[in-house]
Amino acid sequence: MAAMIGISAPIVPARDAVIATRTPQPVRGNPFLPQVVRRPRDRRALGVGMAGAPLRCVKRILILYASNHGQTRTIAFELERELRALGADVAVHDVTANELPEPTAFDAVVLGSRIQFGRHAPAMVAYIRTHRAALEQVPTAFFSVSMAAANGGNDPNGYLDTLFSAVGWKPRIAVALAGALPYRRYNFILRFVMKRIARAGGHSTDTTRNHEYTRWDQVHELVTVIGELTSAPRRESHAS
Ligand SMILES: Cc1cc2nc3c(=O)[nH]c(=O)nc-3n(C[C@H](O)[C@H](O)[C@H](O)COP(=O)(O)O)c2cc1C
Repeated sequence: MAAMIGISAPIVPARDAVIATRTPQPVRGNPFLPQVVRRPRDRRALGVGMAGAPLRCVKRILILYASNHGQTRTIAFELERELRALGADVAVHDVTANELPEPTAFDAVVLGSRIQFGRHAPAMVAYIRTHRAALEQVPTAFFSVSMAAANGGNDPNGYLDTLFSAVGWKPRIAVALAGALPYRRYNFILRFVMKRIARAGGHSTDTTRNHEYTRWDQVHELVTVIGELTSAPRRESHAS
C-alpha cells in the first residue's frame, strides 16, 4: 500500500484538471434553477409553463461510484441528497452495475472511486476507458477517496494524476477526499493490517470502533462546484 500521509486540504483540482484552479466561490442563488425560474417574465419565451414546475430546466446529474467498504458510496449518496435538495434530477449508480445510463444524457457526470493499495477501483478505470469519448462531451467531476487525503494536499500520492495519465482523460474538476477506517467492517486480518498502516499514517489505531475522516464541508463545497459545472458549456463532439 502506498504510504498514508496526513493533513486535510480544501477542495482543489488535480494538477492538470481543466477548471477549478480557484477556491470555489459561493454560488448566488440556486445553481440548479436557471435564470428562467428567477425571472418569471422570461418563462414563456423559453417555453416553460407558468403554472407548473419548470421541469425542462432541471439539471440532470449522473453520479457513479466505486466503493469497497462503504465510504465512497456514503459520499455519493450525500452528494445526491444535497443536489436533489437544490432541485437537480440525480441518478446514482454503483459503477459495477450491469446496466448504466449513457453519460451524454446528463448535464453533468460525477465519478467517485475509493483507493486501495494505491489504485482507484478497476471497475471505475474500465468505465472511464470505455466511455471516454462520451465523458469528454459532458462536464465531469471526479472525487477520489483515500486515507492519504486525510493528510491534505491537492493530489496525495499522485493518485489522481496517475489515474488520468493511465486512462488519457481528465475531468473538469478533480478532488481528493478523506475516507474512513471502518475497523469493525474489516475481517481480523485486514483489521490488523490496517491498524499498522494507520499507525504509520498517524491515524487512529483504536480498532474497537469505526473512524470517519471525510470532511463534509468539502463535500458541501463539491456540491456547489458541481452546480457551477452543470451550467458549463458542453464540448462539441468531433465524431464524424
Ligand atoms: C485494503 C485497503 C487498502 C487501502 N489502501 C490505501 C492506499 O493505498 N492509500 C490510501 O490512501 N488509502 C488506502 N486505504 C484507505 C481507503 O482508501 C479508505 O478506507 C477509503 O475510505 C475506502 O473507501 P470505501 O470505504 O469506499 O471502500 C486502503 C483501505 C483498505 C481497506
